[in-house]
Amino acid sequence: MRKLVAATGWKMNIGSAETVRYAGFLKSRVAQLDVSAIDIFVLPPFTSLPAAAGAFGNTPVAIGGQNMHWEDSGGWTGEISAPMLVEAGCRYVELAHSERLQHFGETYELIRRKVDRAMSAGLTPVICLGETAQEKAAGRSDEVLAEQVLTSLAGQPDNRVPDTILAYEPRWAIGAAEAASPDYVAARHKALRNILRQHRGRDVAEHTRIIYGGSVTPENGHDIIGLDDVDGLFVGRAAWTPEGFARIIELVVKAAAKKLARTTAATT
Ligand code: PGA
Repeated sequence: MRKLVAATGWKMNIGSAETVRYAGFLKSRVAQLDVSAIDIFVLPPFTSLPAAAGAFGNTPVAIGGQNMHWEDSGGWTGEISAPMLVEAGCRYVELAHSERLQHFGETYELIRRKVDRAMSAGLTPVICLGETAQEKAAGRSDEVLAEQVLTSLAGQPDNRVPDTILAYEPRWAIGAAEAASPDYVAARHKALRNILRQHRGRDVAEHTRIIYGGSVTPENGHDIIGLDDVDGLFVGRAAWTPEGFARIIELVVKAAAKKLARTTAATT
């Protein structure tokens, strides 16, 4: 069974002092739950990473970067490399967030290089995938997802693919009023798993986590995390308070218990 994920990206929010306050509250909430069946991580801005590493040390909450460069060092003013993230205590790195694609001109060919470097450095890349509103309207969503995921993973051997996390984040649902509907999410996650199955085999498809992001809230998250092919919730605004993220974590913990019960029932 795939381990479910509860994650939040803070974008350009939550400085060091606020990170310490956030972590203090979240730690006390997480300590009251059995979170051993799920993975939890937060992606603070770079300057908050040292505070986050200190505050979340020895807790089940891991940390990660929101981006990185594809080289380890050199003349790349303003950039951060994979070894630097590792040194700062990161276990994850988010790549291809739609805001990086939209405002900073990143392409999936670049993402492919970043994925490769992140994995070699021992980071888990969280690779964002998603169609625009126009691509959705043109009925091209699954074709776009296939192109994005296959380009990002090109050159990676099959056995490395399950060490990535794929984040389906429809670009039109990020920062929006509503998430994609559960039916729509189910269809895209199924399509992504089929793409993995066709190109990388059944084993890879079964073991690779595909999480959903885009206007997730504690209210709509329950139906989304309950879907078969959804392996986690990736949350922006609704988890920028520790109370909000704690509620998301609770949903994922409950969903993990239900999915385990279903799997056990199916195999006995
Ligand atoms: P949102 O952000 O939850 O605020 O829509 C999601 C994201 O950008 O990943």
